Amino acid sequence: TSTHHLHFKIKYTNVTRLCNGTKQIISVNGQFPGPTVYVHTGDFVNIKVSNHIDENVTIHWHGVRQMFTVWADGPAYITQCPLQPKEHYNHNFTVVREQGTLFWHAHLGWQRGTLYGAFIIMPPKGQPYPFPIQPKAEFPLLLGEWWNMQLDDVEKFGLENGRGYNISNATTINGQPGLLYPCSQENATTLRVKKGETYLLRIINAAMNFQMYFQVAKHMLTVVETDASFSKPYTTDIIVLAPGQTADVLITADQDVDSYVFGAAVFSPPDPLRVEYPTITTTGLFIYEGAPNKTVEELEFPTFPAFNDSAFALNYVSQLRSLNSQEHPSWTPQTVDRSFLFTVGYSYVECKAGEVCQGPGPGGATVGTNINNVTFELPSVAILQAYYQQIHPNQSVAAMWDTSPAQAEDSYEEDFPSMPMFQYNYTDGNLANNFAEFGTKVMVVDFNVNVQLVLQNTDSLFFESHPFHLHGYNFHVVGLGMGTYNEERDSANFNLVDPPIMNTVAVPAGGWAAIRFFTDNPGVWLMHCHFEMHTTWGMMMAFIVKDGSAPNQKLPPPPKDYPKC
Ligand code: C2O
Ligand code: CU
Repeated sequence: TSTHHLHFKIKYTNVTRLCNGTKQIISVNGQFPGPTVYVHTGDFVNIKVSNHIDENVTIHWHGVRQMFTVWADGPAYITQCPLQPKEHYNHNFTVVREQGTLFWHAHLGWQRGTLYGAFIIMPPKGQPYPFPIQPKAEFPLLLGEWWNMQLDDVEKFGLENGRGYNISNATTINGQPGLLYPCSQENATTLRVKKGETYLLRIINAAMNFQMYFQVAKHMLTVVETDASFSKPYTTDIIVLAPGQTADVLITADQDVDSYVFGAAVFSPPDPLRVEYPTITTTGLFIYEGAPNKTVEELEFPTFPAFNDSAFALNYVSQLRSLNSQEHPSWTPQTVDRSFLFTVGYSYVECKAGEVCQGPGPGGATVGTNINNVTFELPSVAILQAYYQQIHPNQSVAAMWDTSPAQAEDSYEEDFPSMPMFQYNYTDGNLANNFAEFGTKVMVVDFNVNVQLVLQNTDSLFFESHPFHLHGYNFHVVGLGMGTYNEERDSANFNLVDPPIMNTVAVPAGGWAAIRFFTDNPGVWLMHCHFEMHTTWGMMMAFIVKDGSAPNQKLPPPPKDYPKC
């Protein structure tokens, strides 16, 4: 194993896209997308993040489990306060057993729209991939979005209107809109390959608000990893990824020597109010050595399912299986110690007296989101900081942070409901679950227990899936289905042998997902929808996983340079 020292300087940089002049964006080291981190499983990573812009910022290592290093996780006001201008923080952690493709991104407001990059974990040195073929070369492909507007204005628009997506002006691959967008053709992402060879595509959905299909014209894709966990090889022509999800796929250049277009198209389940989405496919080129020159009109393009083909997407996910082989066993919790049902969906936010509201709800009510009828509010003291102070009341942590015990206690409440506050019945069709209260509520669970969590999409106002991401854990997706979850009927069909292992699961529109995880990592772990609009509206909550009793089962103290609030 080795140690990596990296420096992420957060600074402004100028970027030009879509014939739209030059726009100032937030970047790491002036790069967009940001630098790719390459490590091996078992390596120690030290990344110094320093803030050279005039606003706050934090960086999160999405899908890195942060075993016993929750201090390095990054989400603003959950595990740390954001870095203020001129501050810096060293994220120190070991990549214990993840392997494959992840990414890093900002975790404050809408900054991740430009502040993201690949985080690639190769097998321990000298060890091959457990794939049917060892790839000749590999290419990271980051799916994203581009706004001509500044991202904080996009966020503001969404909050004020409580609907009305201010949709992006383009979808992108590695920051480039590609062949079909104005002023973008020459910079399209290009992969150069040799006939007969096999390559590894590391595909990351870093988009803000869209699930995406991905396809390479005329070629098949073999999925071998999902969210940095090995999977049984699954061969298909099209994959579907929700924001926060990643997939490693093998592709063999087995067609005629030529150039082929690959692309990502928006998959957006039917939503009567959401008629707008970027209809132009973002594309790049897959060019064989010796291919004849062709104009864009002469190229082979991929063809995608309809933008609202939910059945296609559900079928794709249902085919995924963890590898769970003798050499790479993956143990799925067979029993359950704590069982939760969380509804996830939309709610109305009532218009306050004296305010003019123009949302789609009664009396102009705007739209919010909730989990179990709680709309999450970020605290002003990071939950982890407040929690640590409370479990170590006799230490001088308060002095270290200048946070009074009262402030720490006020940060959050431990009464997150384990069931929806209102009974939910998918079949009754009316707006039965559109009430929510604001709060900063957490769910406390013990160390080393098996948790089962059923996420039920309530779908009462709109029709959208919610890609749920859990920090600090990889979970086993033991079941997925449509309609209202029924414990007796549905748990009988769970896959407890080789369910896919993920850090983000798309809870289908009008359906549910059941996940299990073993709480072997103490800390404060955020769970949220990875659609940025929904997060902005409050679709978040946090788990506190308590320390275990053995000395090596406890949260170590905070690092010296921990950014306090
Ligand atoms: Cu990809 Cu909370 O993050
Ligand atoms: Cu959502």
